[in-house]
Amino acid sequence: MHYINRLTQVGVFIIAWLAVLGHAQNTPNSHVRQSGSAFLSSDLLNLQNDEFTNPALLWVDRGEALWLNNCAQCHPKALALASAVVAYPIWRKPLDRANGKLVNLEDQIASCISRNTRTQPNIESNEVLSLSAYLSSLAKGLKVRVTQPSETFAKQEWQAFLDRGAYLYTTRIGRMNLSCTQCHDGKVGVALRAELISPGFLTEFPIYRQSWQTLGSTDRRLRACYSGVQASIPAQAHPDLRSLELFLKIRSEGMTWEGPSIRR
Ligand code: HEC
Ligand code: HEC
Repeated sequence: MHYINRLTQVGVFIIAWLAVLGHAQNTPNSHVRQSGSAFLSSDLLNLQNDEFTNPALLWVDRGEALWLNNCAQCHPKALALASAVVAYPIWRKPLDRANGKLVNLEDQIASCISRNTRTQPNIESNEVLSLSAYLSSLAKGLKVRVTQPSETFAKQEWQAFLDRGAYLYTTRIGRMNLSCTQCHDGKVGVALRAELISPGFLTEFPIYRQSWQTLGSTDRRLRACYSGVQASIPAQAHPDLRSLELFLKIRSEGMTWEGPSIRR
């Protein structure tokens, strides 16, 4: 019994890896390469498509205003940063550390804000999320394509993060004893607490979630999934969350970025 369980896990692991190694056309899950919006109720989809009442767009406007005052001095063209939206998280080694880490878009924005203010805001602060929504809206239409480091040491560390992400994606957790893949590959389209499970691609973040009454980043969404299966929730910005984000982003490679989105 145990052995069979192990075997299934290995199978799922290999499938997840094929999804990572293959590209759009030849992954085993190519029939479900749909973004989260494809699984919204018609009410939410209407809200999302209405440029006057879509709450996520308010955040984009706020982000644009913040941009002009806080960012334009160093980055004259916001559009030049849109490529970071589809390429992050990236590997980076801070000067004061022996090892590198993965930095996602909100980490980068928070760290850039601190260049002028000296204090680093929380990644779920209104300021960071507005700027994230603004950059995300500028990246609409770009293809997801993660940046891989080229230097050997960086490459090895990056690969270790990616392996960790793949491992986490396929490992059962929580009181529900479920892995990410069991829901996001195995139960796509199935209803769970009034939501339809999507394949969990990263093409539409940050999201305005009605149940949060605010915008939230990928980091927060992933923690919500840990909570959903009643597992212990990683701390905000935990390296495991960044490893998962890298894994998911690579799994979404080749898909079109759609900007910030609405969720239930
Ligand atoms: C004082 C100059 C400065 C200011 C002000 C600044 N940045 Fe940056 N930004 C940088 C530098 C330098 C980098 C290169 C990466 C690094 O060193 O962190 C960067 C990198 C970035 C990147 C990643 C670009 C890429 O292609 O990888 C993003 C996104 C970004 N900044 C967003 C912002 C936002 C949003 C603001 C406004 C809150 C801002 N920056 C303000 C200097 C600045
Ligand atoms: C019990 C099933 C279940 C498990 C297990 C689960 N999730 Fe989710 N997840 C959901 C539901 C439901 C949603 C909200 C609807 C949707 O967009 O898929 C969601 C949303 C997401 C989204 C956002 C998709 C979007 O476009 O808004 C991502 C990314 C995600 N999950 C990743 C993960 C990861 C990574 C794990 C493992 C740590 C995980 N999920 C585990 C059910 C699950």
